[in-house]
Amino acid sequence: MKLIDRIQDFADELTTIRQDLHAHPELGFEEVRTSGIVAELLQGWGIEVHRNIGKTGVVGVLDGKAPGRTIGLRADMDALPIVEQTNLPFSSTNPGIMHACGHDGHTTMLLGAARYLAETRDFAGRVVFIFQPAEEGLGGARAMLADGLFERFPCDEVYGLHNRPGAPQNQVRVVPGIAMAGADFFDIHVTGQGSHGARPQESRDPVIAASALVQALQSVVSRSIDPLDAAVVSVTQIHSGSAYNVIPGSAVVSGTARMFTDAVRQRIRERIKDIAQGVAATYAVEVEVDIRNIFDVLENDEALSGAFADMARGMVGDENVALGGRPNTGSEDFADMLRAVPGAYFTIGHEGTALLHNAAFTFDDSILPIGSSLLARLAETRTAP
Ligand code: NI
Repeated sequence: MKLIDRIQDFADELTTIRQDLHAHPELGFEEVRTSGIVAELLQGWGIEVHRNIGKTGVVGVLDGKAPGRTIGLRADMDALPIVEQTNLPFSSTNPGIMHACGHDGHTTMLLGAARYLAETRDFAGRVVFIFQPAEEGLGGARAMLADGLFERFPCDEVYGLHNRPGAPQNQVRVVPGIAMAGADFFDIHVTGQGSHGARPQESRDPVIAASALVQALQSVVSRSIDPLDAAVVSVTQIHSGSAYNVIPGSAVVSGTARMFTDAVRQRIRERIKDIAQGVAATYAVEVEVDIRNIFDVLENDEALSGAFADMARGMVGDENVALGGRPNTGSEDFADMLRAVPGAYFTIGHEGTALLHNAAFTFDDSILPIGSSLLARLAETRTAP
């Protein structure tokens, strides 16, 4: 591997930063300590810092030696509401909160790239370091965009990354084109009429309606979507009732839909609404359907994905770069930034038996210099006029 020597030289310091962030995880839009550390480090390296962009987001701006293009590099900073079960010496000290998606690692990788680029400034143009809050379904990317991220800091290209446990160690992968699913979250509120559990004739039972709804929703993907278009509709929550002998008055059915085109998103939404209305008529209840776009479809620029893969091959070796492959039904809000500015989102593999969002997940610190080096080299190569 031909990583950047200077970054490998301070790999231990990156590990220290990462493990400190890991011990102090913060939920989305609450990354006060994390963003404070990021801002202080950037400032210490002589990088211009802008705070509170998208609430707890931080942007660093670094100019190179000559005019050129502007490249945005983005990392996410938030943790998850999970009780950590790793027994690591640097386990979470914030009860019920854990960096179970490795965003502590992503933040550290971008800090490593920032330090190197600030020390060397061996590039033309400008690098914009984007430390994003609240990636985990809370809309951190949209909050930064709403705060004028790309109007205030216009970028020609933007790049982001994610660690990938269970993938081959050190494997860098980029999927050109559509790479990750869009996601809707939905809540279907069912309102009926409660009664004594022994006198069902006096009720309009929302539990029966909710049960029918769950079954009927399974026909959305199987009967309304072209089999060659991938889609998922998962009901993940049903809430109703509080006693053995009371038929409750209401129920809520919630879940998520995943898709890879906006047309499929539209079709799923129509069918969920129609089915809910049909079930309401059948069971004499009222329904209210709330469907929210949480993640856009993530689409990598084809040409920039290829250029990134070529660059990565020179750093981690041909055998460690995968260009292409199947899109992922997971979602990622970097998709919103890629809708505004062309770029690419890539992954770095590391061995690990516990997958993302798992209480036993562990991030492999040995990939920190790989991430930092790839981001730094992207800045150096893509800023050239
Ligand atoms: Ni993540």
